[in-house]
Amino acid sequence: MADPSLAVIAGANRGIGLGVVKEMPRRGWNVIATARRPAEATALAVLAEAHPGRLEVLALDLNNVTQLDAFADAMKTRTLDAVLINGGVAGPGHRGATAATEAEIGALMFTNAIAPIRLARALAGAVRRGSGVIRFTSSVMGSVALNAGGHELYRASKAALNSLSRGLWPELRGRGLTLLSLHPGWVRTDMGGSAAPVSVGESARGMVTMLERERGKRRHAFIDYQGAEFAW
Ligand SMILES: NC(=O)c1ccc[n+]([C@@H]2O[C@H](COP(=O)([O-])OP(=O)(O)OC[C@H]3O[C@@H](n4cnc5c(N)ncnc54)[C@H](OP(=O)(O)O)[C@@H]3O)[C@@H](O)[C@H]2O)c1
Repeated sequence: MADPSLAVIAGANRGIGLGVVKEMPRRGWNVIATARRPAEATALAVLAEAHPGRLEVLALDLNNVTQLDAFADAMKTRTLDAVLINGGVAGPGHRGATAATEAEIGALMFTNAIAPIRLARALAGAVRRGSGVIRFTSSVMGSVALNAGGHELYRASKAALNSLSRGLWPELRGRGLTLLSLHPGWVRTDMGGSAAPVSVGESARGMVTMLERERGKRRHAFIDYQGAEFAW
């Protein structure tokens, strides 16, 4: 029997990332999940115990570039079938561009747009040529075409991620990879809030289905967890 496929899920301590970590071993994947503070990642520890030898939990703060580069170096000996870059923040509570400080904008843009691209680029060489997938957790809020206002800074950070993803794509296409800018739905998490219509489980199942469906297609798609395609 072939070895199980291997996925990295970066930013998996809670919410959507944790949901995807729960889902993937059920579908036969082995997983390397990252958390900022693995010693406090109790939900991941419980999952690792439930799937002996199939789930590793490693430390990674996306904003710590030294740690990010060391993590990517450590992955050079592995062959990754999928890299899911999920960690993200909502940004300052006021969410408005005119109220924001330089530091608030810098932190939001770094976490949501710059760090994911940096990690994707650093890991690309370890992703299986031909069938490997890199997937960003984007958002429909990152669509410039569909921007109806509100949450303007968060939208701008995901639009920046989308734009940088488009810039990254020619490099990944050259390696025969697939790139997904995936909207998880409006999901009931700390970020999405309790009024969100989609459960973490439903979003996670849909996203893993999309990942498996898009494997080997060697395209860059902006889609949601049910496969609906969005205008950039
Ligand atoms: N929920 C929604 O409706 C929705 C819709 C569209 C897109 N998204 C996107 O989906 C992703 C996950 O969101 P969520 O709803 O699951 O949010 P969440 O419940 O607030 O969880 C956010 C996750 O990101 C991690 N994270 C934040 N900053 C990080 C950093 N610097 N380094 C590493 N990890 C970091 C958090 O780690 P800690 O636990 O250590 O804080 C946590 O695991 C985000 O990119 C978000 O923008 C969410």
